[in-house]
Amino acid sequence: MNCCVIGLQWGDEGKGKVVDILAESHDIVVRYSGGANAGHTVVAGGEKFALHLLPSGSVRPNVGCVIANAVVVDPETLLKEIEGLAQRDISLEGRLFISENAHLVLDYHKAEDRLREESLGKNKIGTTIRGIGPCYADKVGRSYALRMSDLKELGKLKDRLQKVVEYKNKVFAAVYNAEPLSADEIFEKCKLYADKLLGFVTDTTGLLHGAIAEGKSILFEGAQGTLLDLDHGTFPFVTSSNSSSLGMPAGCGVPAKVVDKFLGVAKAYTTRVGGGPFPSEQDNETGQYIRDRGNEYGTTTGRPRRCGWFDAVAASYSVTIGAIDSIALMHLDTLSGLKEIKICRAYDIGGEQTCFFPSNITKLSQAKPVYESVEGWDEEITEVSDFDKLPANARNYIKRIEELTGRPVTMIGVGPKREQTIFR
Ligand code: IMP
Repeated sequence: MNCCVIGLQWGDEGKGKVVDILAESHDIVVRYSGGANAGHTVVAGGEKFALHLLPSGSVRPNVGCVIANAVVVDPETLLKEIEGLAQRDISLEGRLFISENAHLVLDYHKAEDRLREESLGKNKIGTTIRGIGPCYADKVGRSYALRMSDLKELGKLKDRLQKVVEYKNKVFAAVYNAEPLSADEIFEKCKLYADKLLGFVTDTTGLLHGAIAEGKSILFEGAQGTLLDLDHGTFPFVTSSNSSSLGMPAGCGVPAKVVDKFLGVAKAYTTRVGGGPFPSEQDNETGQYIRDRGNEYGTTTGRPRRCGWFDAVAASYSVTIGAIDSIALMHLDTLSGLKEIKICRAYDIGGEQTCFFPSNITKLSQAKPVYESVEGWDEEITEVSDFDKLPANARNYIKRIEELTGRPVTMIGVGPKREQTIFR
């Protein structure tokens, strides 16, 4: 079975835990989009791992890990992650494969991300400042782009970096009145990256097709969520890659038809970090209750996440465009103790009700949520391992989500550990 795991909301749905669990029954886990803006948390053997670039399967010693073409790689973060795992006796030697075509996120990308966000003031996107947008912009623009394979020819790389940094410095000075960066310093760092990372760099497309021919099972790990997709999310409050399942084939060079199952991951409520419309947001005591119980603070930036009710309109849109077969519903335990739980089942836009999510933010900003309520439950459910042992109201809540999204909920998260998962 080849499976693709996709976030159905605005990221942070708990994909890291789901991928870690599924990785046990797959040979290879592939990251195919985004970069170190992602924050995937895995709790294994009593230890917590916060991963940004390495696939979440990497904490399992026998799983192959691929960082595919469309991932933008910040080599500094990647090296820290590889070294962090090595300190915990988890080696990636011989099982980590980084695409030679993946683009490099370098210091000037992070500087540009920060300078642009600062200059936008209250109109900023609220990015993670990891240099993601500027790196993808260079990729699309081509003339100033650098890829993993460029680390192989240091002489050429040195010349190219001089030109790229000279250009960037001109822009930074003219637009932001910013201090110049040193091409030589960036080159020295690149020498280290080449030394430490080139052993992992290869043609991952060829590798994946070889693995498919051998009948190996592959798990494709989406980063961020469908609603942050550059083309299909809530533009401009999105990330700079195709973070829905639609990005998977282009991101790693493997056609979507090899995937047997698309598993959508959603939280039992909704969160968002950064700017942009969020119709079911609860900027009130309920939102704070969810934030506190769900520890809703960014893995990458530490920012408090905006919290709200489960939005079935948004989730159904993600299910539809992502060809989602079934849903993993995470963080159900966070909702224990609420008297009433609301579900957004439609939007009222200009007096008309619709169940279709408008990704256009002018329309989305006008959407008023139409709620229905289910009764909550008081019991803590973090030890429950069987669906039938969940409180009746929790079961009703899940069934209603299944009805509204039209897909079965086959996995339920009741805590951060692998064991705190109910399978149906
Ligand atoms: P960027 O990807 O850093 O450019 O940020 C663009 C938007 O995507 C911002 O609203 C970020 O908060 C959001 N974002 C990026 N990565 C993640 C993630 O992994 N989880 C949740 N939000 C994210």
